[in-house]
Amino acid sequence: MKAIVLLLAWVSVTYALDNGLGLTPPMGWNSWERFRCNTDCVNDPENCIGEKLYMQMADRMAEDGYKDAGYQYINVDDCWMAKERGPDGRLQADPVRFPSGMKALGDYIHSKGLKFGIYEDFGTETCGGFPGSKFFMESDAQTFADWGVDLLKLDGCYSNIQDMTSGYPIMEFFLNKTGRPILYSCSWPAYFVANSKIPDYKAIAKSCNIWRNFDDIQDSWESVVSIVGYYGKNKGNFSDVAGPGSFNDPDMLIIGNFGLSREQQRSQMAMWAIMAAPLIMSTDLRKIDPYSKALLQHKEVIAINQDRLGKPGALLVDMNMIQFWIRPVTPEGSVAFAVLYTGSAGTPEKLSVQCQSLGMVGPGAYNVTEVFDGHFIGMFKPTSNINITVNPSGVFFAKAVYLGDQK
Ligand code: GLA
Repeated sequence: MKAIVLLLAWVSVTYALDNGLGLTPPMGWNSWERFRCNTDCVNDPENCIGEKLYMQMADRMAEDGYKDAGYQYINVDDCWMAKERGPDGRLQADPVRFPSGMKALGDYIHSKGLKFGIYEDFGTETCGGFPGSKFFMESDAQTFADWGVDLLKLDGCYSNIQDMTSGYPIMEFFLNKTGRPILYSCSWPAYFVANSKIPDYKAIAKSCNIWRNFDDIQDSWESVVSIVGYYGKNKGNFSDVAGPGSFNDPDMLIIGNFGLSREQQRSQMAMWAIMAAPLIMSTDLRKIDPYSKALLQHKEVIAINQDRLGKPGALLVDMNMIQFWIRPVTPEGSVAFAVLYTGSAGTPEKLSVQCQSLGMVGPGAYNVTEVFDGHFIGMFKPTSNINITVNPSGVFFAKAVYLGDQK
């Protein structure tokens, strides 16, 4: 008995980073895409970057079903700081917008059973022009640990990409040194890609729990399609290094905002599940409509996103704006697949697709269920055909559970 327990422990250590965090893609909420760098608490007290916003979002996460659905992190993004460090060189929150201080905010978030995320930058300044961590990494890591921070997003504005390869692991070292488990979210590869350089994903996966590969998401379908397209190309083979403890981050969920139709919101949710992406919402949870809320909390979609294999999906083909994606999931031999119609005009496409080209390679049969409405489609063999209808800017999203070769 003992030997088995030890063996299991060893297996999980080989996959995970030192800190043991992020064994499935992290889930939470981040202020950036929806609330940006709104520091005007005088004229816009409800929506400005201040402690009230994060406390209210923590309340909504805890009370409105998000926490029960698996969302954990409340992430403070850029623009939370005072413009200057304190006299002791320590970071400090803007005293007017965060009058209780960051430790108190962390305590509040923890009191709701949630986790506290924060944003800093590897360079001399954050992207929004607040003090960066360059020359202060050790003390900043300690400050975050003292405040009870559970996640650090370390951005890369105002720095040289040449310094990142050695610098991001140094922050990892200082985070570990604090003794507090802090999930480490790195923007390192995104800055390489923005400078047309191929990142060293093996090194990145060794130091970071999650990492941004590409552009910031904006509140539009074009932005979602461009990000999904980038992940489909898998340039630098970043999906090979993903797994428990290490995930590629295509950026936040914009579901519940202004730019996506219902169909497009379903597409984002399905594709983030297929890509094994962190599910970090950036929307106003105080005002979200019931459709978006139900989608963000969809049990089966989340189950696929969180599948313990942690293997991201791959784009198999892209023909006339119709993309075929598959992701291996449990139980063994099963797949989740998405047929995504990236074009946003036209009429629904009706397709008849051979199951093996959707990852059902057998030799036995599969039970296929549509994920969003839970409709059982039928039992299929690799050579059978399946009929699919996909709407413009919509997705057909299904799970094929492998029944073994006896069927
Ligand atoms: C960069 C990041 C964004 C956000 C902003 C904040 O653009 O990629 O996710 O954190 O900085 O300034």
